Amino acid sequence: MERAPKSEFFHILRTQQFDRVVLDELCDLTTAIRKFAKTKEGLHYLRGLLAHKRAMLYFTQPSTRTFLSFNNACQILGIQTSEIRDPSTSSEVKGESLLDSLRTFSSYVDVVVMRTKEEGLAESAADLFDHIQRRVPIINAGSGRDQHPTQALLDIYTLERSFKDHGGIDGKTIGMMGDLRRGRTVRSLCYLMKNYRNVRLVFIAPDDFMMEEDIKTHLHQHMVQFTETKDLRSVLPELDAIYITRIQDEHDKAGESGRVDLSPYKFGVEELKHMKPHGVIMHPLPRRDEIHPDVDLDPRAKYWRQERNGMWMRVAIFVKLFKVDHLVMHGHLLD
Ligand code: NCD
Repeated sequence: MERAPKSEFFHILRTQQFDRVVLDELCDLTTAIRKFAKTKEGLHYLRGLLAHKRAMLYFTQPSTRTFLSFNNACQILGIQTSEIRDPSTSSEVKGESLLDSLRTFSSYVDVVVMRTKEEGLAESAADLFDHIQRRVPIINAGSGRDQHPTQALLDIYTLERSFKDHGGIDGKTIGMMGDLRRGRTVRSLCYLMKNYRNVRLVFIAPDDFMMEEDIKTHLHQHMVQFTETKDLRSVLPELDAIYITRIQDEHDKAGESGRVDLSPYKFGVEELKHMKPHGVIMHPLPRRDEIHPDVDLDPRAKYWRQERNGMWMRVAIFVKLFKVDHLVMHGHLLD
């Protein structure tokens, strides 16, 4: 199979596939798209860009933001969508294999976006699609506890934008707190850090939820510095950003999360006082009680902005995937 040039992509399966060139291009594209979206004419222009394309949204694991932002990204670009959110309404109940179902989607649409509880399923689907005549791209919108690459892209965009006047992500110290072991968002984001210069990561979690060895090995191999701690307060003043995640107890085998003392891993108004004035607070959402709602009022709280960025980044992903990026970057509405 012919490989796409490095700054292009076909499937989006895991974040290891991205280099700095693509990351920067996607961020610039997202910013340009946001400019178009500010006017009625700009939105009209975007709506015509991919009106000849159709997408399948196959989301059999719960999702609010990722589903809605992909769906709205399609609407912004004029892409028609079909969806399955409940496998009990598909032919899987008649005994059809998931790969046969996926192959069926490929008969009707130009891209398949999929979120499933199984790890590695997006890869298997991409492998299948690579060997059939009607090869369509697969976008992994969350694969079990393993990866969530498009979330990591919107996280990168949010970090880059938040540090726009402070040199971007390069040289920053980024804390990650919560269920690092089973949180696919932080796992995907860690893989991207090798693309930035002198980033230091600080993992803040109880032993039961500390980052897995595979990620730590990857960071060592790419000389990304990291430290581990259980003491949020002691590291807060040195963090430029903190990325907080919820406990992923849907992956519990026997209620084990409930036995861990999570009280030291919460971020409230008191914690704000110890953060840098230009610090950034992020969360992929949904949150439970790991961030107090009063923190939302602080300008350093970027998670609602991050959520909205998700829609714009997903517009950028489709634009780049279907190779109409030149029509955005050199579009007539931009000066
Ligand atoms: C995350 C996910 O599904 O992994 N949510 C999201 O896509 N924004 C995080 C989570 O569910 O905790």
